[in-house]
Amino acid sequence: MANAKLELNGTTTELPVMTGTEGEVGIDIGKFRKDTGAIMLDPGFGNTGSCTSAVTFIDGEAGILRYRGYNIEDIAEEARFPEVCYLLINGQLPTKDQLEQFREDLTYHSLIHEDMKKFFEGFPPTAHPMAILSSMVCSLSTYYPEGRDGEDVELNIVRLLAKAKTIAAFAYKKSIGQPFIYPRNELSYAANFVNMMFAVPAEPYEVNPVLESALNKLLILHADHEQNCSTSTVRVVGSSQANLFASIAAGICALWGPLHGGANQKVIEMLELIKNDGNDYKKYVALAKDKDSDFRLMGFGHRVYKNFDPRARILKKACDEVLAELGVKDPLLDVAKSLEEVALSDSYFKDRNLYPNVDFYSGIIYRAMGIPTNMFTVMFALGRLPGWIAHWKEMRDDPAMRISRPRQIYTGETVREFVDINKR
Ligand code: CMC
Repeated sequence: MANAKLELNGTTTELPVMTGTEGEVGIDIGKFRKDTGAIMLDPGFGNTGSCTSAVTFIDGEAGILRYRGYNIEDIAEEARFPEVCYLLINGQLPTKDQLEQFREDLTYHSLIHEDMKKFFEGFPPTAHPMAILSSMVCSLSTYYPEGRDGEDVELNIVRLLAKAKTIAAFAYKKSIGQPFIYPRNELSYAANFVNMMFAVPAEPYEVNPVLESALNKLLILHADHEQNCSTSTVRVVGSSQANLFASIAAGICALWGPLHGGANQKVIEMLELIKNDGNDYKKYVALAKDKDSDFRLMGFGHRVYKNFDPRARILKKACDEVLAELGVKDPLLDVAKSLEEVALSDSYFKDRNLYPNVDFYSGIIYRAMGIPTNMFTVMFALGRLPGWIAHWKEMRDDPAMRISRPRQIYTGETVREFVDINKR
């Protein structure tokens, strides 16, 4: 493709154009500042590509999501979470032997160092589990510092994937004052997590296969979403050559916010609010449209999707199935469906292409599974872990990557004379 031409104050700069494998076009603006002294301003990076990546493809207009070329619908239906982790991180689906070895590694490394259990004692009982998860993930770097050779990195990736679910379940047990339940090696990744969350030492506990399968699907659906806020955070932090655990801990913090992964908790709080207010959906749709109000329909809208979020489609169906299989009747599901219907027929939402996103229905499934609301974003983080790792690794291995360091347009005071405090 021919170079793009940008003219500023009579200077024309020719900028190379690159095309991705799915036909996406990008203009490499690196040279522009050198030639003209001007920068590109793009708050929120709505139209800025920060890297090239071979991990995940999204076509927001068509509602397509693919991990390493595989459609999300197929993966969510057919795969197991460790297989998806392997795919995202290594670029290819594992062979049977590779998967067996990977699963064994994930099992072998799932215990956390006994001393780390003391860390949990330092958090107040009211601590949000996302704060605990992020702190504990960062503190893994004190036990497993990165060496110089690549081997440590590979091992630390497995350790992180294996231990994060143990940390998450321990954080929950700590919050309800119950003893920690250790991982059981014979269980799958998803079943192990369910067991550590819900088993108690005094009673036998068998993992319900419905919970195992629902969790497997939820983890897969959250596994990657290209350059979203938390993944970009992981890349930005990692670009300074910060270690894996520190970079991922930063990503966990970014995910926590209500506009990102924290939306799943906010959706349930919103649905409860609407239900307790006599199911007056129209009132809340009107409020979401009112520019003088801060209220937004949580679980609606997306920077990239201008069509149905394919993950939300899958989850809406899964919601009905899981609740039926568990024999749960949740009035919030009816509230969610009615709200969706009202919003989707409203011109405000239609004109802005605002559709339910992944967070809209996920919380209802988590609730049916018995997972408390403040753990929802932790569940998202467990799912997103392989995506963050895949991007961190891709960034580290990319010879074109430099430290992330955006520019700005300064709008503050021009130079002023400093006046001594006694003379002001
Ligand atoms: N309710 C009401 N209006 C909305 C909503 C919403 N949920 N989302 C966007 N809008 C409006 C917004 O006010 C703006 O209107 P106008 O053009 O009149 O100013 C227009 O739609 C575009 O919105 P934006 O804020 O410029 O879009 P964005 O790309 O910057 O933000 C978003 C995307 C996801 C942060 C936003 O849609 C939102 O706040 N949604 C609710 C929170 C949410 O569900 N977040 C989870 C996202 S999916 C999981 C994940 O990957 O994180």
